Amino acid sequence: MTKIFPSLLSADFMNLEKEVQHLTEAGVDGLHFDVMDGQFVPNISIGFPILEALRKKTTLPIDVHLMIDNPENYIDAFCEKGADKVSVHIEATPHIHRAIQKIKAHGKEVGVVINPGTAVSQLESLLQDIDFVLVMSVNPGFGGQAFIPQSVDKIKALNEYRHQHGLNFKIEVDGGVNDQTAPSVIKAGADWLVAGSYFFKFDSYHEALQHLKSEG
Ligand code: DX5
Ligand code: ZN
Repeated sequence: MTKIFPSLLSADFMNLEKEVQHLTEAGVDGLHFDVMDGQFVPNISIGFPILEALRKKTTLPIDVHLMIDNPENYIDAFCEKGADKVSVHIEATPHIHRAIQKIKAHGKEVGVVINPGTAVSQLESLLQDIDFVLVMSVNPGFGGQAFIPQSVDKIKALNEYRHQHGLNFKIEVDGGVNDQTAPSVIKAGADWLVAGSYFFKFDSYHEALQHLKSEG
């Protein structure tokens, strides 16, 4: 069953508590939390204070997507402040293996993210150690961008790889996910969908979930 993680980047930050309540009632599978540093990506978003505030108010899994340089320096803090899943970009550090081990040491689920320009083959030596791969289907940094169609082939390749090698990592997809793009992504083998601008356009988040989960 496909899981949906709304990206809080598109939520109403002045009413975050209400948003979380609404998302919980709708039955979302967790909250996607985008951290941007203005270096790895050309935008700055949210960080520790909002994560701590959220953690006090929700038991939903918090899926922290680190779009920051040298993420290994901040992993302890994100884990301690409430993340349940932490994903790091393979492009953001020469020490991706160390970053993975750090997340695991906290007992959190660990993911590795690849940008649209990064090949799936770059992940091969890591796939046995991680809980999920996050395939970026836009260039990271901003919500509301158009889905890059070649991402579907990457999802297919990862899906085949895990079947061939008897691995259990999940495949998450982030960027431009909407009712038009979700069906092909799900068909290709994605397990978890992140959705920001499309999702938060709905008055009813329950309805948004239905649209994303129906396979078209
Ligand atoms: C983009 C972020 C996404 C973003 C997705 O860099 O990682 O999580 O919020 O937004 P949409 O769904 O609007 O593409
Ligand atoms: Zn994200």
